[in-house]
Amino acid sequence: MNILEAIRHRRSVRSFEETPLRPEDARRILAFAEKLENPYELPITWKLLDAKKHGLSSPVIVGTDSYIAGKLRRAPHAEEAFGYTFEKLVLFAETLGIGTTWIAGTMNRAAFEQAMQLAEDEVMPCVSPLGYPAKKMSLRESVMRKGVKADSRLGFGELFFDGSFEKPLTPEAAGALAEALEAVRLAPSAVNKQPWRVVLRGEKAHFYEKQSRGYDSGGWDIQKIDLGIALCHFELAAKALGLTPSFEIADPKLSLPDDTRYIGSFEIRQ
Ligand SMILES: Cc1cc2nc3c(=O)[nH]c(=O)nc-3n(C[C@H](O)[C@H](O)[C@H](O)COP(=O)(O)O)c2cc1C
Repeated sequence: MNILEAIRHRRSVRSFEETPLRPEDARRILAFAEKLENPYELPITWKLLDAKKHGLSSPVIVGTDSYIAGKLRRAPHAEEAFGYTFEKLVLFAETLGIGTTWIAGTMNRAAFEQAMQLAEDEVMPCVSPLGYPAKKMSLRESVMRKGVKADSRLGFGELFFDGSFEKPLTPEAAGALAEALEAVRLAPSAVNKQPWRVVLRGEKAHFYEKQSRGYDSGGWDIQKIDLGIALCHFELAAKALGLTPSFEIADPKLSLPDDTRYIGSFEIRQ
């Protein structure tokens, strides 16, 4: 499975087969995680955790005791850095046939943070179960997916814009970048809010966060994690399509709709 297929095929997996995560798969996941870098150059520490050993639980996950969690220093852009990096791991797991779910809320967080030996100046934004997807979803999982309309996404022209926020972008006008933007559209996000917006302008794709109320608390904005995920999908897909995206933070100072803020840009060389 290549990366574009992994992006298309991935979904949150909350029901797992009883077969425990094989030690060689656990080792491959951890080895891959430890080599990952992000454009913000913020290092992340990873741990594989055993739910039984550490008293961990998530009310939405059934069938596996294996989890992976990451922690990093609190710093500007920690959210985007974590989103970008953890999603690379999620997609790698997908290529191995291992199911994951981003979990920020539905877990006994204090137990996870203790297992991660979280220091005062660190944050553990999300964790994920690891295991082999069950053939049939649990009832709880299907209800949950319906609740957040997990199988649907906003339309291309609602998320992506041509030159300015005034003009919706069409896949035809996006040309070579249409598939990279489609990869952004399919990405996972907290409560499936899909806060990413992109304006294509010349050689650049400018990424913005459309903020939903109540998601930015105490200087920590979970929707910036979603933006990190979007940057990851765009970059991976663009590279897979033979393009050369390079990341920069250089606000083009466009006129913005309400509750929208600039995150970063890719310059794309064909
Ligand atoms: C940052 C983030 C946090 C999330 N937190 C949770 C969570 O606490 N519990 C949960 O069941 N799903 C969580 N999700 C999964 C989303 O609900 C899911 O990605 C979305 O509904 C789209 O479904 P899909 O991943 O199957 O495409 C989270 C996703 C992201 C990106």
